Amino acid sequence: MKAIKIQHPAALDTLQLVDLPEPAAPVRGEITVRLRASSLNYHDFAVVTGMIPAADGRIPMSDGAGEVLAVGEGVTEYAVGDHVVTTFFPDWLDGTPPSTAFTGVPGDGIDGYAREIVTAAATSFTRVPKGYSDAEAATLTCAGLTAWRALVVDGQIKAGARVLVQGTGGVSVFALQFAKAMGATVIATSSSNEKLARMKALGADHLINYKETPDWGMKVLEITGGRGVDHVVEVGGSGTLDQSMIAARNGGHVALIGVLAGFAGPVMTATLMAKQLRVIGLTVGSRQQQLDMIDAIEANNIKPVLDKHFPLAQLGDAFRHQAANAHFGKIIVDI
Ligand SMILES: NC(=O)c1ccc[n+]([C@@H]2O[C@H](COP(=O)([O-])OP(=O)(O)OC[C@H]3O[C@@H](n4cnc5c(N)ncnc54)[C@H](OP(=O)(O)O)[C@@H]3O)[C@@H](O)[C@H]2O)c1
Repeated sequence: MKAIKIQHPAALDTLQLVDLPEPAAPVRGEITVRLRASSLNYHDFAVVTGMIPAADGRIPMSDGAGEVLAVGEGVTEYAVGDHVVTTFFPDWLDGTPPSTAFTGVPGDGIDGYAREIVTAAATSFTRVPKGYSDAEAATLTCAGLTAWRALVVDGQIKAGARVLVQGTGGVSVFALQFAKAMGATVIATSSSNEKLARMKALGADHLINYKETPDWGMKVLEITGGRGVDHVVEVGGSGTLDQSMIAARNGGHVALIGVLAGFAGPVMTATLMAKQLRVIGLTVGSRQQQLDMIDAIEANNIKPVLDKHFPLAQLGDAFRHQAANAHFGKIIVDI
């Protein structure tokens, strides 16, 4: 089977397309899946470019979706021919997050899904929403579940809530879609007026170009009549957190998700305290949360926004497209 491997030093130019033996037949509790699609996340970009160190020869990509080829003894949840999608933390089924962090994450601590066939524990997958293609399903593992967890699990979002989403990447577009499905008013930011128009078409109520309005926190206060938003889906990190804290209402929730604008920096601790903010860090979610999200996707007919498709052999070009900020929503890899 074909697969992509990282070679040291990790870089887009050194990603290697290789032939590997097919995996062994599934033993008790396992399934074998013919993967048909993956999707790009910033986390995958960090792995393939060496920002996050991974083992030499690691197969990248945390997301994968495809069709069950074989089922091991004792597996009752899936049958041959079913379509499944991978989970980000194969060892986090439910409850509190595992302490193993990224050591068990496919495409980082263990081999991921830039390959044609995988045999793994049946619990490393979930069902896919009815009517989803493999490409659509492959967007859910990381970006979809992160947005769901931020707003619904941690945020406990209510109808009428005001939500701020930053940029138009995978997590943020899902966050817009989930927030609208939950009856929220959404303020969207982007560096591009063209992309903002696309956010509006998807239901965003208010738009801010964060390049033209660098103090967008104040603009959010103005839009909300001085009150501020209930939830911020914070994907920028240290470079955007100040503005997010200004944009949030007193007692508001900032879901600290990303690092697009910096990994570390000073925090306005006095504002954090005075506004009694809840800044909650999160990494993706559990398998049970993924199943809950899939129920909600079906009930609300939510379809992910797909950007360009690239074949597996051109994974490097897919990441170049992401690095150029040319995308809107999810970039797909067809396997
Ligand atoms: N904690 C977690 O569990 C988790 C899970 C998934 C992702 N993440 C993190 O969340 C972030 C987004 O991930 P992703 O996969 O959605 O990335 P992505 O698809 O590559 O999104 C990138 C988009 O973010 C926007 N952006 C870049 N810099 C920005 C800034 N300074 N302010 C506002 N928006 C900015 C840009 O939108 P415009 O072009 O519209 O400006 C860009 O297109 C990454 O840092 C990633 O590591 C964390």
